[in-house]
Amino acid sequence: MCGIVGYVGHRSATDTVIDGLRRLEYRGYDSAGVAVVSDGAIALEKRAGKLANLEKVLDETPLALAHIGIGHTRWATHGPPNDVNAHPHTGGVRRVALVHNGIIENFMELRERVEADGHELLSDTDTEIVAHLVELQVQSGVDLTTAMQRVCQQLDGAFTLVAIDAEDPDTVVAARCNSPLVVGLGEGENFLGSDVAAFIEFTREALELGQDQIVVMTRDEVRVTDFHGRPVEARQFHVDWDLSAAEKDGHDWFMRKEIFEQPRAVADSLIGRRTANGQLQLDEMRLADEELRDVDKIIIIACGTSFYAGMVAKYAIEHWTRTPVEVELASEFRYRDPIIDATTLIVAISQSGETADTLQAIRHARSQRAKVLAICNTNGSSIPRESDAVIYTHAGPEIGVASTKGFLTQLVACYLLALYIAQVKGTRFGDEIDEIMEQLEAMPGHIETVLEGADAVYELARSHAGTRSVLFLGRHAGYPVALEGALKLKELAYLHAEGFAAGELKHGPIALIEEGLPVLCVVPPKGRDQLHGKMLSGIQEVRARGARTICLAEAGDTSIEPYADDLIRLPKVPVLLQPLVAILPLQLFACELATALGHDVDQPRNLAKSVTVE
Ligand code: F6R
Repeated sequence: MCGIVGYVGHRSATDTVIDGLRRLEYRGYDSAGVAVVSDGAIALEKRAGKLANLEKVLDETPLALAHIGIGHTRWATHGPPNDVNAHPHTGGVRRVALVHNGIIENFMELRERVEADGHELLSDTDTEIVAHLVELQVQSGVDLTTAMQRVCQQLDGAFTLVAIDAEDPDTVVAARCNSPLVVGLGEGENFLGSDVAAFIEFTREALELGQDQIVVMTRDEVRVTDFHGRPVEARQFHVDWDLSAAEKDGHDWFMRKEIFEQPRAVADSLIGRRTANGQLQLDEMRLADEELRDVDKIIIIACGTSFYAGMVAKYAIEHWTRTPVEVELASEFRYRDPIIDATTLIVAISQSGETADTLQAIRHARSQRAKVLAICNTNGSSIPRESDAVIYTHAGPEIGVASTKGFLTQLVACYLLALYIAQVKGTRFGDEIDEIMEQLEAMPGHIETVLEGADAVYELARSHAGTRSVLFLGRHAGYPVALEGALKLKELAYLHAEGFAAGELKHGPIALIEEGLPVLCVVPPKGRDQLHGKMLSGIQEVRARGARTICLAEAGDTSIEPYADDLIRLPKVPVLLQPLVAILPLQLFACELATALGHDVDQPRNLAKSVTVE
């Protein structure tokens, strides 16, 4: 996720901003840049790649000495990671420089407006458009603060913006709407950062900003207003975390932090997917509607957690589009001589975009003339580069080795793809698609609700510290959840953990059940009577043989109570969307149990974040 730094004070702005960016490196990024105001002009440098690339250029040709500046580490969303797309961006006359974190939902419309006014845009980013808009305002005679207020009122989406004006060497102006930003309060100097890690070395006094707020910062003053300039109170707090805790937002592990980022990650992955007239749009996707209409078979290829997202996708795509879907482990795909041709769509799901098995599989598919669509979290990585089309998930970088927010955002991308195909092929009416989109848009709130119950799950997890084996049962969309829950426990707690389709129990796995064996059961929503009833029978079968059942069931489902030794409640959601909430207790359970066992949750033994060998 992008890192943002702002500074005004008595130190060298370039050095202070670069220091801040270094402390935000943990967020992950693919380019970096800095801009300062000196002698009535903007001086700016930015480079693709690691901060070291930027520092090398600055060593060779330092920016003029300045005491006000902004900086950015970019995690690419709009446009590939290169020098031009790196932030800061400026307006056409380079009077305003601006950095941005987030997604501007209405950027296409704003871009058309800016270009129609004769402005030449150099990058593929939504940020550059905002820089132009803010600059146009200051050029019209208003100050930077008013300019920012006016521009924020035109923007839809989630954004943090920080700007400086060459003609105002004293003021940094920032805006926050749904993306993180905190102020660091110093003596004769003030700081801005995506999180407190950016300035913790210089001050531990900080101001928390709310949604839709603007902060105007000079050396000696920090003023916070709403987007209309009305003053608002910001909460001051003291930071007592060390740097390592600050990077993790106070959590002990990146994984835990990432679990709690999921409401935001899911919301971000849904931003900008509907046009003003309600049509679904997937703007990064480079496949024409005619090509999608011709698709008569879909094969999803992926590994590990991404494979389980693909299993959920199969249920959704087949149900909403009536197009046959196969889901295949990428490592198996090309060795079995799969039947594919120009009407087969291959969907490759990969968080990292670098998994060698998946990359080799898409190369094979393309050599057979199939079209490949990537669902990926890493802009500019190999898999989207070698695919015909891409849908980016907007999880931000995932640092914990075990995938969490990567999985949830992959699910969202799969649902969006399924609905888009339904729209193109006309297999669902527009109002049905609207209804599902509304249900999806309600999911961040439901995810929040489940995460609020984390303490009860933690207690349950700790009480299983002596367990050697755990089974997971699910049906329908709950089956991949059971598999993913088991994978999380294997990789983090190093326990024997296996997921089964509940209906398969009697065909073998039930022999594993013995007295006291914990069995986690993902119960389908009550509305799906057949599924629900069959799941209940499966739970009774294992309980009758001595298993201890931990059931995940929707609120209000009392029928499960007699068969659950422990009960975790899930919000009421449609069956196909249930994986988005059902997986959360399983992630929390694995994270807490591994912590209780003293394991390194972020770097489990023998595992790598991206598996670049076959
Ligand atoms: C499990 C996990 C792995 C990955 C798999 C594929 O927590 O992270 O199973 O899901 O290695 O990785 P990507 O999605 O990067 O292709």
